[in-house]
Amino acid sequence: MNRDELLQWLAETNPERLGSLWAQADAVRRQYVGDEVHLRGLLEISSHCVRHCLYCGLRAPNRDLPRYRMNKDEILACARQAADFGYGTVVLQSGEDPGLTNDFVADVIRRIKSDTPLAVTLSLGERSEQELAAWRAAGADRYLLRFETSNARLYAAIHPSLPGRRSDRIALLRQLRELEYEIGGGVMIGIPGQTFEDLADDIEWFARLDLDMIGVGPFIPHPATPLGQGAGRFRVCNQVPNNEEMTCKVMALARLICPEANIPATTALATLDRRNGMELGLTRGGNVVMPNLTPAVYRSRYDIYPEKANIQEAAPECLGSVEHGIIRLGRRIGQGRGDSASYLRRRSAASWKA
Ligand code: 5AD
Repeated sequence: MNRDELLQWLAETNPERLGSLWAQADAVRRQYVGDEVHLRGLLEISSHCVRHCLYCGLRAPNRDLPRYRMNKDEILACARQAADFGYGTVVLQSGEDPGLTNDFVADVIRRIKSDTPLAVTLSLGERSEQELAAWRAAGADRYLLRFETSNARLYAAIHPSLPGRRSDRIALLRQLRELEYEIGGGVMIGIPGQTFEDLADDIEWFARLDLDMIGVGPFIPHPATPLGQGAGRFRVCNQVPNNEEMTCKVMALARLICPEANIPATTALATLDRRNGMELGLTRGGNVVMPNLTPAVYRSRYDIYPEKANIQEAAPECLGSVEHGIIRLGRRIGQGRGDSASYLRRRSAASWKA
């Protein structure tokens, strides 16, 4: 697909033509990744964060938020629960928390890998190359780091950098690939100041980085953040809307351009449309769902954006409603780890060379 076509789809409003985009994405999804929907248990292990990102409720200046950090035994108990539920993967996610030290995380990874058959995905923000290498050596399989927007000016405006540190997530994704992680990136849809051209660039970046996983969700304003309070300097005339249709367009186009990628129907999409969000995501390109495993006492404190879907549901209820939704669509729950096909090819090419 060339850039003009990409831009045309992003601007498309005709319901019939959009119907043909959804159908194409669904057909490509079936052909390349099949009818299995992989479940990744999401465990939000710490809400501490040193960053000042203008959109996120976990930002350090948000002093009203009581913070938590799970201990190793709590994390391990939740990982065992994920394995008992039959998930193939546990995702350890947090704010950017230096309290999650190199050794702490490495030990947690080793214990999960020795006690369960789970793939371990990390989503712990921008960490040093040394830490990323140590965690890979400890057994971590995948790393998720959304680059949020490929527009460098917009990126810098919404991610104030910390003294002495440069933030370049695209470079970091390349490092993660060198370390032989499966890599996941993605963007928010409808960030104030994001244009249709930016979004076309973002989708081209998904392909250029050859992402194994692509996570996209709508920007949801959080009242305790500058962007949630309508910081006016972000106004542009070609503003992308932060709605469900726009999010689905990006998922569908990501599927067409990166046919083998694992693409989740995200919690943010389900938050915009509690009744249908997950189903829409799964029929417009998606093949992954990430049910929340975080213990109830902590879940409401992982306050990235308001009214997160499933916030009151305990893990078993969350799983039940997800499984029903998948079966209703005539799809199957994924078996095994659900690695991306291109990752498996890279691995086998590497073992041939060795
Ligand atoms: N709205 C939507 N998504 C958000 N994220 C953070 N804050 C928000 C928000 N206000 C997303 C970012 C981050 C992921 C973990 O959550 O894309 O990478």
